[in-house]
Amino acid sequence: MDVEHKDQNGELAERLQKVLAQAGVASRRQVERLIEEGRVTVNGITVSVLGTKVNSNDTICVDGTLIERSERLFYYLLNKPMGVITSARDPQGRPTVVEIMRDAPARVYPVGRLDFDTSGLLVMTNDGELAHRLMHPSYGVEKTYRVWVHGPVGIKALEQLREGVLLNDGKTAPAKVVRRSGLLKRRIVDQMSEPLEVLEITIHEGKNRQVRRMFGAIGYPVAKLERIAFGPLAQDGQLQSGSYRSLTREEIKKLRSLVGLT
Ligand code: URA
Repeated sequence: MDVEHKDQNGELAERLQKVLAQAGVASRRQVERLIEEGRVTVNGITVSVLGTKVNSNDTICVDGTLIERSERLFYYLLNKPMGVITSARDPQGRPTVVEIMRDAPARVYPVGRLDFDTSGLLVMTNDGELAHRLMHPSYGVEKTYRVWVHGPVGIKALEQLREGVLLNDGKTAPAKVVRRSGLLKRRIVDQMSEPLEVLEITIHEGKNRQVRRMFGAIGYPVAKLERIAFGPLAQDGQLQSGSYRSLTREEIKKLRSLVGLT
């Protein structure tokens, strides 16, 4: 997400155009135009700069009308397919997770990232505080990935993953790793007929392309990667690739309590 920042008082500040779009004033693009046209005030002062940050105490008016900010919160679990980008917009025009969720009743945003080529579970929400905490390394939310590599993977390699792997941005924290198969003689993608071994790895950091880099660093480039669990949410085989569902109350409660929200 590009929008969560804390102000000096530790309060979550969000971009003015996002707040207005979420309040249902207009689409994000139309809202940007309203701001540029000088039709928006924050605490009585006209704001025409995009990206201005506001927090919940700020009074926002459009054409002199006070904007109600009681926003309903939505929480979804998306099974992201490969070939979809985890951001709201892509300059290269590739499909985005936000587009997949266009039919959802509110604009929701991804909690963290999955690579273009990675599939699997992604929480989508407009609850900025929860998203911020779930992504923050200090809460150590566990994420489990199923990893297909050209095996066989030796015991030494597994130990390296379990102890931590030195990457160019530091050593990774110890990971949990288990084997999920012997060597599979099946084709995962066309032209790929080498035997693949399936492992599951659980990490609680969010370094960029972490799993791919960890396996690359120990000599096993990843052939395929899928996130099968995010905190208490796990893939149960019911959610088809490209589909999403609302989180249950119980699941929302679990996610919130995981990061100290009641
Ligand atoms: N690690 C990766 O390498 N890629 C992802 O998409 C997620 C974790």
